[in-house]
Amino acid sequence: FAGEWTFIWASPSIETLPPMAGMEVAFAGRSNVGKSSLINSLTGRNALARTSHTPGRTQELIFFEGPDGSDFRLVDMPGYGYASAPKVKIASWTKLIYNFLQGRASLARVYVLIDSRHGLKDVDLDVLKSLDRSAVSYQIVLTKADQVKKSELEKTFEEVRTELRTHPAAFPDVLVTSSRTGDGMAELRAAMVRLLNE
Ligand code: GTP
Ligand code: MG
Repeated sequence: FAGEWTFIWASPSIETLPPMAGMEVAFAGRSNVGKSSLINSLTGRNALARTSHTPGRTQELIFFEGPDGSDFRLVDMPGYGYASAPKVKIASWTKLIYNFLQGRASLARVYVLIDSRHGLKDVDLDVLKSLDRSAVSYQIVLTKADQVKKSELEKTFEEVRTELRTHPAAFPDVLVTSSRTGDGMAELRAAMVRLLNE
């Protein structure tokens, strides 16, 4: 992760994806869960991915490439489950997300982000089931851990762990992070480096 991460590509549709290369890791989750912030925190570049406190900020698949042509890519995704956007937009984002997650050979891992304050919602469960069906390896990352009391965090953590037992493609371990404090970033980076070396 040391070195400069750069923006390489933005795809508004599944027809405009970059050619497959190297290893891709994607960040999925409900709108506003903190996907773009997590990418910034991980890469140490504050304004690499665009963030906003209003949901629906990221509207395309955004590809970032690791230092020195490492062929390691991070993919920021639009959020799902954003009820206030126009219906056609939600439908097109959802289609884009599902198509990308199901049909990309270079996609090595999906991190599914869950807001520590809200826990798992039905839309999250739908995405997990779809990943199970396509046998895409994924891991749950709790975000915004700085926003909840320790007891609440533990409750959400246990709920997620219990749910994951019924999901064959899921990693049993759950990562707890905060992009604001940097908590959990070292663990998440280490998990990705292990993946690269597999
Ligand atoms: P969309 O692109 O709209 O789907 O959202 P996103 O999932 O990319 O979320 P984004 O990173 O834009 O963050 C949404 C809001 O949550 C912003 O106001 C962030 O500052 C805030 N946020 C993200 N991560 C954290 C965190 O760890 N702690 C706190 N307190 N706020 C966070
Ligand atoms: Mg975003």
